[in-house]
Amino acid sequence: MLAQKLAVVTGAARGIGLAVARQLAAAGCTVLMVGRVAEAIENAAGQLREKGHDVLPHVADVTDASAVAALAARLRREFGRADILVNNAGVLLEPKDFALPQAASVFVVDPDVVAATHACNALAPLRLIQAITPLMRENGWGRIVNVSSSLGQLSEMGGCWPGYRMSKAALNALTRLTAKELEGSPIKVNSVCPGWCRTDMGGKDAARSADEGARGIVWAALLPDDGPSGGFFRDGQAIDW
Ligand SMILES: NC(=O)c1ccc[n+]([C@@H]2O[C@H](COP(=O)([O-])OP(=O)(O)OC[C@H]3O[C@@H](n4cnc5c(N)ncnc54)[C@H](OP(=O)(O)O)[C@@H]3O)[C@@H](O)[C@H]2O)c1
Repeated sequence: MLAQKLAVVTGAARGIGLAVARQLAAAGCTVLMVGRVAEAIENAAGQLREKGHDVLPHVADVTDASAVAALAARLRREFGRADILVNNAGVLLEPKDFALPQAASVFVVDPDVVAATHACNALAPLRLIQAITPLMRENGWGRIVNVSSSLGQLSEMGGCWPGYRMSKAALNALTRLTAKELEGSPIKVNSVCPGWCRTDMGGKDAARSADEGARGIVWAALLPDDGPSGGFFRDGQAIDW
């Protein structure tokens, strides 16, 4: 079944997105790897192609509406389908010294930074869902994975990093309301927390590799037809919102 699936992975030039692209390709998907820097995404795709994976680079800044429209147009023109969308591209624009959280206190963070964080982490996934879900509907199958974070859990909400935390809470809300509107359809949408991973964002002290973090995302991208929709998961296990 998976041999013909076309997966779109945003932020695929490095970190967790690159690991997700590799794992989905290894599972038999064709993967369109989306990145905003041409050289970086072409290099990343080239490395996976050398290993025999069926991947292609696509240059797009996901916060740019016209770039997202061009991505959807390419999917329709070149493939006539899009089966899996992994909204992985994300930013943490606030000071991220985890030993000095007060530098990212709600009382000092620039609201413009909060807005820019939302543009990438919450509004871009909304735009991508709007652009790509029509292709899923046409082909009668779809899986959307919003890559979220425990820092967006309302049940566990701590202080500091308001831009990042609020953007991931908003992304989780997007998962819930999209799932509600897709109820009864063959398209599933879930939020996944990859855990704390060793990437540029997570830093070198994180407990998990990018590959380990990617596994739970790939699980949600390949859910069977009786799998869940509208949930929040880590390692395939439901977690609190
Ligand atoms: N690492 C962790 O511990 C952790 C934990 C929980 C959740 N997450 C989430 O996991 C996802 C991946 O994180 P990561 O750790 O792999 O981060 P990362 O190493 O910083 O990589 C982020 C990726 O997103 C891309 N990106 C950022 N803004 C973009 C834009 N406007 N358009 C297109 N691509 C853009 C980056 O592209 P450029 O190379 O062009 O910058 C990069 O490829 C994020 O959503 C993050 O919030 C990470």
